[in-house]
Amino acid sequence: MKILFVSGSLRADSHNTSLLRAAIEAAPEGVEIELFDPAGLGDLPIYDQDLEDDVPESVRRLRRDWAAADAILFATPEYNGSVPGGLKNAVDWASRPEFEAALTNKTVAVIGASIGQFGAMWAQADLRKILGVAGARVVGDELPVTRAHERFDHDGRLLDAELFERLRLTLETLAAEALVTAPAEAALR
Ligand SMILES: Cc1cc2nc3c(=O)[nH]c(=O)nc-3n(C[C@H](O)[C@H](O)[C@H](O)COP(=O)(O)O)c2cc1C
Repeated sequence: MKILFVSGSLRADSHNTSLLRAAIEAAPEGVEIELFDPAGLGDLPIYDQDLEDDVPESVRRLRRDWAAADAILFATPEYNGSVPGGLKNAVDWASRPEFEAALTNKTVAVIGASIGQFGAMWAQADLRKILGVAGARVVGDELPVTRAHERFDHDGRLLDAELFERLRLTLETLAAEALVTAPAEAALR
């Protein structure tokens, strides 16, 4: 069982990417975690249906990597009350070709961090909606991480045991739900 972690932030010191790095330790036994290179979002052209006949290598890589995962955990920042444009763009690319896209029936969960008091709640709600429309199975609850800049020690470890526990539960739910739809051979891996 492989879960791909996707951060919606390209920033080198991103709190959302740090959150995903910290969540690797919270993964259930037997679950392999891979962190999708955030630059992979930055390399994508803006979605253009005219490119579908011969998509660029960056799009091929995104579709291949997202399709290969049994489940995906997204961590999204909030920009102006919603999902960062780069993440929405990646979802658009991964939602095509329709019905056989990387996101079709993919089991996904959404968490998010911001430096404010609301923990990217609007962005998480929007991302859940967008992923659902794109054909993914969105599972679990939102996990708003508020005041993200105060959550990590100098080594990037989470200071908050309760938050670590919530990440563990999110990953447990994601892995259990992915087993429902993952191909039988993936379940045996
Ligand atoms: C363009 C821009 C818009 C932002 N809008 C919001 C917002 O609407 N709500 C919020 O809570 N934080 C907002 N922020 C603050 C981000 O939550 C904060 O920069 C966060 O750390 C970004 O995530 P990252 O650390 O993973 O890059 C905004 C930041 C930027 C740069």
